[in-house]
Amino acid sequence: MKHRQSLFRAALLLALGLAGTNAQAQVRAKAPAKPKAKPAAPAPTPGSPAVDPQMQQFVTSLMQKMTLEEKIGQLNLVSVGFDVTGPVVSQNVDANIKKGLVGAVLNTFTPVAARKLQQQAIQDTRLHIPLILGYDVIHGHRTIFPIPLGLAASWDLDAMERSARIAAAEASADGLNWVYSPMVDIARDPRWGRVAEGAGEDPYLGSRIAEAMVRGFQGPTNDMTKPETVMACLKHFALYGAAEAGRDYNTTDMSRQRMYNEYLPPYRAAVRAGVGSVMASFNDINGIPATANKWLLTDLLRKQWSFQGFVSTDYTGIPELTAHGMGDEKKVSELALNAGVDMDMVGEVFLRQLATNLKEGTVTQAAIDQACRRVLEAKYKLGLFTDPYRGVTEERAKATEMKPAYIADARDITRRTLVLLKNDKQTLPLKNTVNVAVVGPLADRSRDMIGNWSGAGDGKQAISILQGIKNVGGAGVHVTYAQGANVTDDQQMIQRLNAHGGELNIDTRSAETMIAEAVQAAQGSDVVVAVVGESQGMTGEAASRADIGLPGRQLDLLKALKATGKPLVVVLVNGRPLTLPWEDQHADAILETWFGGTQAGNAVADALFGVYNPSGKLTMTFPRAVGQIPIYYNHKSTGRPYAGVLLDKYKSRYLDIPNDPLYPFGYGLSYTTFTYGKPTVSQASISPGQDLEVTVTVQNTGQYDGTEIAQCYLRDMVGSSTRPVQELKGFQKITLKKGESRQLTFHLAANDLKFYNDNLQFVSEPGEFQVMTGGNSRDVQMTSFTLTK
Ligand code: BGC
Repeated sequence: MKHRQSLFRAALLLALGLAGTNAQAQVRAKAPAKPKAKPAAPAPTPGSPAVDPQMQQFVTSLMQKMTLEEKIGQLNLVSVGFDVTGPVVSQNVDANIKKGLVGAVLNTFTPVAARKLQQQAIQDTRLHIPLILGYDVIHGHRTIFPIPLGLAASWDLDAMERSARIAAAEASADGLNWVYSPMVDIARDPRWGRVAEGAGEDPYLGSRIAEAMVRGFQGPTNDMTKPETVMACLKHFALYGAAEAGRDYNTTDMSRQRMYNEYLPPYRAAVRAGVGSVMASFNDINGIPATANKWLLTDLLRKQWSFQGFVSTDYTGIPELTAHGMGDEKKVSELALNAGVDMDMVGEVFLRQLATNLKEGTVTQAAIDQACRRVLEAKYKLGLFTDPYRGVTEERAKATEMKPAYIADARDITRRTLVLLKNDKQTLPLKNTVNVAVVGPLADRSRDMIGNWSGAGDGKQAISILQGIKNVGGAGVHVTYAQGANVTDDQQMIQRLNAHGGELNIDTRSAETMIAEAVQAAQGSDVVVAVVGESQGMTGEAASRADIGLPGRQLDLLKALKATGKPLVVVLVNGRPLTLPWEDQHADAILETWFGGTQAGNAVADALFGVYNPSGKLTMTFPRAVGQIPIYYNHKSTGRPYAGVLLDKYKSRYLDIPNDPLYPFGYGLSYTTFTYGKPTVSQASISPGQDLEVTVTVQNTGQYDGTEIAQCYLRDMVGSSTRPVQELKGFQKITLKKGESRQLTFHLAANDLKFYNDNLQFVSEPGEFQVMTGGNSRDVQMTSFTLTK
């Protein structure tokens, strides 16, 4: 194999006329080590990654040999194999690859498939340029981890980085070199199905997670020539999560100030971390679709942020500009290229129109060259000119896929994502339990465990919660199972989901019969574990929901189970915050488990039986009702806050429900309890540019050892613009033995006090700041300090 690769390299170099000169392999040996990615601070100063002159020279020499058609070919990303999202499947792929009209391919993998494609590109084309091979590796490739919203709930950056590293190892062994992750879109509207794919509502936490994921995929030094790395793709740039009414693909319209302070930081952080590519989002932004938005893709991304990689559209993003009302195909081709798009995903508009655009003078040769250069540079960074196969062999794939260490990691990581929402009278962990009734439409579902966007994951290999309870409970626990309800009874939804890989398992018996069967199982048990929620297809892309309560008859099932008088443990399987008012009032315990991946059932059962003490915390607010949406913890005060002194009626609130959420951001319980002292600050007053330390003592005051995520928030009390009532500025995940206490110190840097003012200057302003510490955004204690002039 090695021999074949070096033969290939020699042939390629000869063909390019580069043998013995600036060959990538030789160059790389001499090239100075790339600087380590700096830990991102939320400062706006543009990072300026070092330009690699050897890479530039290599690409320049190559481009000198390319025809216009071949250059445009590099901008063309086609889809082969199967298509998850699009009605459009690329045509004539093999023929186009051979003509040099394809730069990258998505939606196929395995060593055999990857080799076949690469062989066509390097053996049958004039210039032997290898392909980028991309895929949606979102929360694992073969070994599937919890959905990103679940991973975020671990607040465990190392665990998330590890999950991305494993995904990269498996994906690269499967022939892939480019993954469409991380999705860092801030989301404040749980109706939007894609909240499942992101890190939640907070810009600070979202930024740290974005960096961790980029490190995990691209490696700690961004050296993507290493075989177990892949190039990450930051998406969806930008503001895709702010779709009006939570309806996927819908319009976004927001002030620049809000963008800079609240929505852009995670994208910025990923760019600083060296992400290799960016995907333009489907939505329009203040009237200009992202795919045609020069301010976004050029002024902000490249000029302000110094992004050095390439920009792809999302799936058919360019032709969709016509539906946005931006013009005919020729026009939107011109708009996209001139805005800063380098690669056309599946649209083939560049292929059809760019030459005409050039002839008519609406795009320049320089713009086409620049896009082509960026794509070729990505190939160089991936080491594809040295080894287009990146060491992929079937043996390596077999040895890598779902290896025991990865499965163990999956169980460990999944446990960290579980969030205990309620636990009255210490219902959990289950103790001295002999008879457990496991009921609910999601109990016996292994396919749902891996969620959607589940890469090359095999649902059949995932552990269902029913199976996990049997595995962990062992011989001493007797389990009775009943489905109890269908996940939904809405025929239209069933049809729609099943038409798109929903794989719903619909029981045709009447709801009453199914509930009666579950009640019977409950009556014979010591405790009921009801596994309810959403099927995997109810979240993710094009899966917005207007009502985010438990679908179908699942609530009726819970009510009937409650009426048996048995302790009721609700295990939630879902991809978004749900409205759970009845459940919160009447269940004895509620454990949020998301879609937990390959090892979901074992991990959940570890928590139910107390083998593991849950420690996850929500990264998205759970509303009381849909009418509160958008709801997020870092909101503004308004002039008429609830606790004001006005006549009671004239305050910013609802007549029918409270303002506050059911479960706030940062919330999650443990089997033990943690008590916080009052925070103190190192100085009562600091001058601009000075740092500050916040100290707080946390004690484990309960009956178990446990892990806590201590959070530190800041409020700028006076500003030239209105400021949020709190903003997360730091967190620490600590494990304390029963009775142990620890003093924690949070470091607030000068930049943590800054924000983008009305003129988009990043400033801190003198005055009082409140510092809050606690175990969630609601239950905090406070102190303050002053920033002097
Ligand atoms: C999604 C992207 C995804 C792409 C490729 C699109 O429909 O919005 O998130 O990466 O398809 O599958």
